[in-house]
Amino acid sequence: MAFTIKVNGKTHSVDVDGDTPLLWVLRDVLGMTGTKFGCGMALCGACTVHVDGGATRSCITPVDSVGTSEITTIEAVGATAAGAKIQKAWLDREVVQCGYCQSGQVMAASALLAANPKPTDAQIDAAMSGNICRCATYPRIRAAIKRASRSLA
Ligand code: FES
Ligand code: FES
Repeated sequence: MAFTIKVNGKTHSVDVDGDTPLLWVLRDVLGMTGTKFGCGMALCGACTVHVDGGATRSCITPVDSVGTSEITTIEAVGATAAGAKIQKAWLDREVVQCGYCQSGQVMAASALLAANPKPTDAQIDAAMSGNICRCATYPRIRAAIKRASRSLA
């Protein structure tokens, strides 16, 4: 069945079953491989994208549920104010280790700052708690979010 979805400001027509996870549409149909598969069960956060600005687990989001929502992926989040600040802070603080979880981390952090530019430590921890990092980069992630927060007007 054909679905029309909006990804990173562009409209795409995709011919897939309605229950196909958004993650597979992004990666396998549209070739946007920056969004990662980790667990497939909403447990790790590797597949996080934005749906109308909200951090969303694309592995459990059927494509027929997104309708006309605006989907943003790691490929374009740098074009948003919060995403640009987060990506710069990530580089400044050298957050990344193996990198596998990091697109999901950046997407979760960007959604947080877009909604709440001055989060408390508790709010940061709550927003990021579902994004697992096997390399345990958590202290650098929190430091980078704080750095990005300070740089937002
Ligand atoms: S792959 Fe979606 S939360 Fe793990
Ligand atoms: S940087 Fe390796 S899993 Fe997070």
